[in-house]
Amino acid sequence: MNIINIIEKKSLGKELTYEELSYAFNGYLKEKIEDYQMSSLLMAIVINGMTFEETRNLTDIFIKSGKVYDLSSIGEVIVDKHSTGGIGDSTTLVVGPIVASCGVKMAKISGKGLGITGGTIDKLQSIPKFNVYLSKMEFLENLKTVGFVDSSQTDDLVPMDKKVYNLRNNSGTTKSIPLIVSSIMSKKIASGADIILIDIKVGNGALIKTKTDAKLMSDWMKKIGTSYNKKVVTIISDMNKPLSNSIGNLLEVEEAMNVLKGKDCALLETSREIASILISLAKKITKEEALEEVDNAIKSKKAYKKFLEFVSSQGGDISKIKIKANIKVVRSKESGILKAINAEKIGELALKLGAGKINDRQKIDYSAGIKLFKNVGDRVEKNDVLATLYTNKHINLSNDDVNCFIVE
Ligand code: URA
Repeated sequence: MNIINIIEKKSLGKELTYEELSYAFNGYLKEKIEDYQMSSLLMAIVINGMTFEETRNLTDIFIKSGKVYDLSSIGEVIVDKHSTGGIGDSTTLVVGPIVASCGVKMAKISGKGLGITGGTIDKLQSIPKFNVYLSKMEFLENLKTVGFVDSSQTDDLVPMDKKVYNLRNNSGTTKSIPLIVSSIMSKKIASGADIILIDIKVGNGALIKTKTDAKLMSDWMKKIGTSYNKKVVTIISDMNKPLSNSIGNLLEVEEAMNVLKGKDCALLETSREIASILISLAKKITKEEALEEVDNAIKSKKAYKKFLEFVSSQGGDISKIKIKANIKVVRSKESGILKAINAEKIGELALKLGAGKINDRQKIDYSAGIKLFKNVGDRVEKNDVLATLYTNKHINLSNDDVNCFIVE
């Protein structure tokens, strides 16, 4: 077997065997296969796709690259959630504390930003001193005592996803159903939860562009979950406009805290939906009963307090959060109705401002990002502030950079 034959086979659209996938991906993990060879194989997968069988095999190879956590010693049903990626999507930071404050434990492995989509790990790392690289013991201990734990992939836990994920981000190979499914499902299965909710984002600001692809992804994720004795539920949600009015790592942490303190917005709605599904499945109660618990947790500030406990349990210091950036104002050029806020363009703009990165030489600026001041459907007058941009870069923004807003 050799890597060139495997790349060429996939470039012709042929199905790879378990052994061939294992040779390529384990070889890459062990540094016997170069970045350029793996990116070539990944691109062949993006272009030609993979069968369900190949995707399930790749998921298995990812899982076996590290340990699989056994959470049975906790003696409770453990839940998890994952988003396929969007703009302004900080639901994990809201859902985790809500669910844990309602007495349901959530064990989560998150990822960094991928393409224009944000990543929970970057958001957590924007909190000074927050530790996303937990040992197995720390992971279990925090799950037991706090009820919500969130870690990155490590050398122990799906190390293959950690390495391939970074390469995908830097090589334009993010938008592939089999690669997304194996990346997400390997993390979900390795971290040991019993009930897994996947929020499949669809739209111009998501990695998945069509409902047909989202349905296929949902089907494959459920089938893979079942083969590992996991209950997988999916929701399919819109990502043609940003989920919240804050885009960028620290801005999203602040927004998640506002939502946990009761701010009413789309991010709250999505978080209520996800949290109530997880709680109803874990506690075997109706969704209405679960929603009542969710609303009480927010109203009583139990969920917000749980967020603070979660942050300090992983070493983070909320009091040290400081957004340091230059602010530029984007105003409406005309009066009318705000017809659209294009999520893809907002994501590209956030990347340009420094909120994400496209190669390993770049560093994320945690303060960079965008705050939106109008929602789709709002009436706006000429010169009204549509957004403020936070950046530490010296960039000249063209009209094209800020054409995310359609006012008619
Ligand atoms: N989230 C992941 O963890 N992996 C992907 O490929 C996409 C979103």
